[in-house]
Amino acid sequence: MRRLTHSSIPFTLIVLVILAQQASAWGAAGHAIVATIAQSLLHPSIRSHLCTILPSFTSYSSPYPLKGAPHTHCHLATLASWPDTAKWRMPWSGHLHYVNPLHDDPPSSCAYGEYGWTSEENVLTAMVNYTRQLKESKGGFERDAALRFVTHLVGDAHQPLHLTGRARGGNDVIVRFEGRQARLHSVWDSQIINVHMRNLANYTTPLPSLRIESALQGRAYDAYTRWILNEGLGGWWADEWESWSSCSDGDHIEQQATSGGPTNDIDETDLPLCPMAWTKPMHPLVCKYAFASPVPAPSGAEEAEQLGMHNGEYDDSAFPVSWGEAKRRRRRGRRGSGRRPGSPGNPSTPPPDHPQLPELADEYLERIDADKVIQKQLAKAGVRLAAILNTLLLEEAQAAEAQQASRIGGKTESWLFTLGASLWQPLRQRLAVWGF
Ligand SMILES: *[C@@H]1O[C@H](CO)[C@@H](O)[C@H](O)[C@H]1NC(C)=O
Ligand SMILES: *[C@@H]1O[C@H](CO)[C@@H](O)[C@H](O)[C@H]1NC(C)=O
Repeated sequence: MRRLTHSSIPFTLIVLVILAQQASAWGAAGHAIVATIAQSLLHPSIRSHLCTILPSFTSYSSPYPLKGAPHTHCHLATLASWPDTAKWRMPWSGHLHYVNPLHDDPPSSCAYGEYGWTSEENVLTAMVNYTRQLKESKGGFERDAALRFVTHLVGDAHQPLHLTGRARGGNDVIVRFEGRQARLHSVWDSQIINVHMRNLANYTTPLPSLRIESALQGRAYDAYTRWILNEGLGGWWADEWESWSSCSDGDHIEQQATSGGPTNDIDETDLPLCPMAWTKPMHPLVCKYAFASPVPAPSGAEEAEQLGMHNGEYDDSAFPVSWGEAKRRRRRGRRGSGRRPGSPGNPSTPPPDHPQLPELADEYLERIDADKVIQKQLAKAGVRLAAILNTLLLEEAQAAEAQQASRIGGKTESWLFTLGASLWQPLRQRLAVWGF
């Protein structure tokens, strides 16, 4: 390896590496936690069926169900961040990770869809788009990618700052967190989660069943995930979590029917999801928590210009990149780091350092933690993702299983499997999650 002198490492590069770790959509941990919660609520037939969709490196040996164990299952968490890490070669996909409602001006006024969106291509329509592809695609990489997108986008739609365009989803709001300069967006994407992971690192209470326990794979975020599952689904939200995946909220339907506007039909599909009904009640989190005091009022255009960015773009959105830049990103990707913020024209501008920036601590964080805002968003995303996949894939997963069984055990086995499948029949009528 070529030896580098100090002077050959530009200072800006070091800054970039630090920034790159801060600027991602729900950081890698957040996406993996959502996917792991979903995995724990998937039907066992689907866990093995995922291996016919996802690549083999997502497979693991599972002790659940006990009969016939170990099984080869595939895990949603392995590729949950893929749409972020592969964004450099899918520059068209950057704006599918968020939605910018028009006339949304938190914290003073919150609007979500009443006036429409800056673009009809957004995280809401993309969730529908990729769920449809997952349902209709015959297979191959198209279906694989669709599943990765669904896994990822359901997560993004639950990061409140992905539901607002204000200061580019908080990317242009510079604050301090744990004594260091940070973008508001990345505080919500990953830094609060990192604190939670650190504080709960020794949480080991066993989960209530092997079905749920077998979704954990010995990762750094397991203890925090365990805490959310045990204390959250098993405790704080025990009475409500099964309704999170419901799309049949009467109020919502009525409101949609009377409010008019171009986006009424986002939820009007034959697919087991309803992005509008799910995200609309979460948008107030942007006003109530994310942009709450002491977050400074974003100065918008002025700061964006200073940072070399354009309004309406996110740090984590992809820009058309030159070949050289793409290669550099790929290299960085291999080393496991994220993207970097900034536009190609001015990629190396660090956020301006203002020692007087407000520190997000105490009251701001205590309010978020007291109401378990982050934990609940991660849990909701996981439950809804599981419901989408259980509802969409169970029939084909069981058909594949029956076929497999008839190859191995002859007609009797196949008949038994068909009988078993009919037991699930009523569950297919609604969004299906399995009890905790
Ligand atoms: C839908 O998926 C296709 C294929 O990946 C993509 O080109 C298109 O931009 C997507 N549109 C939305 C709104 O997600
Ligand atoms: C985890 O460790 C900390 C000290 O590092 C301790 O205060 C806390 O009680 C421990 N929690 C559990 C659940 O064991």
